Amino acid sequence: MEKSIIALNRYWFVIFVVSFLFFLFLYSFDYNPAFLSNNSLFNTRRKPNHDPKSNETHPIDSCSGRYIYVHRLPPRFNDHVLQNCTSLYRWYDMCPFVGNSGFGMQLGKSWFATNQFLLEVIFRNRMNQYDCLTDDSSLASAIFVPSYCGLDLGRYLWDYNASVRDTLSLDLVRWLAKQPQWKRMSGRDHFFVAGRISWDFRRDINNDEGWGSVLMSLPESMNMTMLTIESNSWTNEFAIPYPTHFHPSTDSEVIQWQETVRKHKRKYLFSFAGAPRPLLSDSIRSQIIDQCVASERLCKLLDCNSGPNKCDSPVEVLKLFQDSIFCLQPPGDSYTRRSTFDSILTGCIPVFFHPGSAYAQYFWYFPKNYTKYSVFIPGYQVKNASISINETLLQFSDEQIMDMREEVIKLIPKVIYADPSSKLETIEDAFDIAVKGVLERVEKVRREIKEGRDPGIAFAVGNSWKLKLSGTGLENDLDFFF
Ligand SMILES: *[C@@H]1O[C@H](CO)[C@@H](O)[C@H](O)[C@H]1NC(C)=O
Ligand SMILES: *[C@@H]1O[C@H](CO)[C@@H](O)[C@H](O)[C@H]1NC(C)=O
Ligand SMILES: *[C@@H]1O[C@H](CO)[C@@H](O)[C@H](O)[C@H]1NC(C)=O
Ligand SMILES: *[C@@H]1O[C@H](CO)[C@@H](O)[C@H](O)[C@H]1NC(C)=O
Ligand SMILES: *[C@@H]1O[C@H](CO)[C@@H](O)[C@H](O)[C@H]1NC(C)=O
Ligand SMILES: *[C@@H]1O[C@H](CO)[C@@H](O)[C@H](O)[C@H]1NC(C)=O
Ligand SMILES: *[C@@H]1O[C@H](CO)[C@@H](O)[C@H](O)[C@H]1NC(C)=O
Ligand SMILES: *[C@@H]1O[C@H](CO)[C@@H](O)[C@H](O)[C@H]1NC(C)=O
Repeated sequence: MEKSIIALNRYWFVIFVVSFLFFLFLYSFDYNPAFLSNNSLFNTRRKPNHDPKSNETHPIDSCSGRYIYVHRLPPRFNDHVLQNCTSLYRWYDMCPFVGNSGFGMQLGKSWFATNQFLLEVIFRNRMNQYDCLTDDSSLASAIFVPSYCGLDLGRYLWDYNASVRDTLSLDLVRWLAKQPQWKRMSGRDHFFVAGRISWDFRRDINNDEGWGSVLMSLPESMNMTMLTIESNSWTNEFAIPYPTHFHPSTDSEVIQWQETVRKHKRKYLFSFAGAPRPLLSDSIRSQIIDQCVASERLCKLLDCNSGPNKCDSPVEVLKLFQDSIFCLQPPGDSYTRRSTFDSILTGCIPVFFHPGSAYAQYFWYFPKNYTKYSVFIPGYQVKNASISINETLLQFSDEQIMDMREEVIKLIPKVIYADPSSKLETIEDAFDIAVKGVLERVEKVRREIKEGRDPGIAFAVGNSWKLKLSGTGLENDLDFFF
């Protein structure tokens, strides 16, 4: 256990004052008007800065193998979806979250009240500033489809029939398959982002009664690579980080933030921000909450069920996580949570209870050896009370905690989406890593085609949790979890 906990009584007041001043600083930092140029980033398409056909003037084309062509979709597939932002979601008005390139309201320099469902907009804005865009699709290594199917679906998930939920997705894949770019690889060089969990797009095409839309079940989609905040077991789905609140524009801002969380004194051994799921019989959330409350000073609970919802306040959540050594990340309605990325952002070591919450998801981002940056407590052990969370976490030495936290801090650049108007200098952010992953995947398919193999082999295979977990050591315990 860290000294900061033992010394809690003596130092908590100092810690409180320092944190308070920090957040005051965050809030009062001057407003960056560059962020206000809301839609000005859309539809800007830069010429490639090199002529890839000639290596006479530029002996080395730094974009070689990295060119991306962005489909010019009719606006009904993206911009029009945003027009009526009040009706985008059943539970609250989305309009405040749509501005500032999808980052939402600005809270301080590079800090925003970012909504987890705006990934499609954020990703597209970053893509518009990608340094190897090309107007010539024949030169492109991959083709990006800048659609907002997730935002569109958000308004119809409840109270609408299947045909309403599917309209835009069906329209989109039909449009894509008709384009000349589709023919080259039957769509296998195409990719898109869907800013909701994959489960929302995986309805069976023969089942009108089920949940969500059929987007990811369509034959055309089976030939594309799909990026989501939470993937299913399919091999053509890749999970990329939920957007966090931090969208820096320089490397030094990132490095400074890493230094801030590294130095921060943490007064709680662990914390949990969330609500129970009384209707889900498998949920371990009520046990988690009980154990947190029973641990008194060791654990801090941010109860997302009571009163004006503090959990919706980025400042409340980030402050709690910054004050905690470990952050509990049990599954909620689905395996993953945005909260995992809030905890990484604040240098709080995530505690997972299900391999589907991270290890089978963000494998482009996180080390295979998950013990380096996280703690794994199998959920069934919490459910049947055969493990005590506080005792498990108390067993880690100060040194182990420091090593793990350092790994978490190393992940910070990888899980942020940088400000598109001035991308980071040398640091690769979540967008850069996603693009690299897609390019490598398409290149592999292209090689297979060249060598005469069927590009469909292993491209979109269901039930691949074992594969997604390979190398973690958990791939042989699937029956316990899935
Ligand atoms: C945002 O975009 C709208 C429509 O494109 C424009 O009328 C408005 O002035 C823009 N706001 C800012 C702050 O740029
Ligand atoms: C251009 O690059 C290719 C491959 O790197 C090389 O074979 C070719 O000789 C180069 N052409 C010129 C004019 O430098
Ligand atoms: C916006 O959505 C609301 C609620 O669904 C609807 O009543 C209204 O007609 C829509 N407005 C436009 C301009 O589409
Ligand atoms: C689905 O709902 C839409 C609009 O609410 C309606 O026009 C359509 O007939 C419905 N389709 C079916 C198959 O019920
Ligand atoms: C998907 O790719 C295969 C080739 O591997 C092709 O035969 C099939 O027509 C493609 N599907 C669609 C919907 O384009
Ligand atoms: C640890 O949690 C258990 C409940 O799971 C509780 O009974 C015990 O008092 C806690 N220990 C400490 C030191 O807080
Ligand atoms: C995983 O990381 C831990 C902590 O750094 C280390 O002790 C362990 O040996 C590693 N396991 C493997 C299989 O590399
Ligand atoms: C809890 O469940 C695990 C796995 O099913 C089992 O091995 C263990 O014995 C159970 N413990 C208790 C106290 O029921």
